[in-house]
Amino acid sequence: MTAVDDGRLAGGALVGGALAGGALVGGRLVERRLGPVGEIPPGEGRAYPVDGLMVAVFRLTTGALRAVSAVCPHAGGPLADGLIDAEVVICPLHQHVFELATGCSRSGQPPLRTYPVRQDPDGIVWVSLAQAGDDAGGP
Ligand code: FES
Repeated sequence: MTAVDDGRLAGGALVGGALAGGALVGGRLVERRLGPVGEIPPGEGRAYPVDGLMVAVFRLTTGALRAVSAVCPHAGGPLADGLIDAEVVICPLHQHVFELATGCSRSGQPPLRTYPVRQDPDGIVWVSLAQAGDDAGGP
């Protein structure tokens, strides 16, 4: 079930002024529905295409979620396939290390972009991205 019975969610998208068609309108961020949290085993990550970007969502063993850009800035490695602990992801190609909360590299690489991510009461993962044309998103 993708709808919340309080009227805020219908068909997987928030409606009623805040969100329509999965996109937050009139704000800085758009929120996109990624899918059931069960698609991401604890301690692993999955990559999702979102508005032309690839976003890696990691589910920590605590259940907490983290979302970062899925493409390693070093040479394009698939970060969703990297090893994680509670703080970092290690790129599977050349083992550069990135903090999941901040995106900062601990091994001298450019930072990853980070994204707000949440799980709704139905177990659906949502990620927020800066709206197209919003240049305040940072690195
Ligand atoms: S591509 Fe990620 S460390 Fe080289």
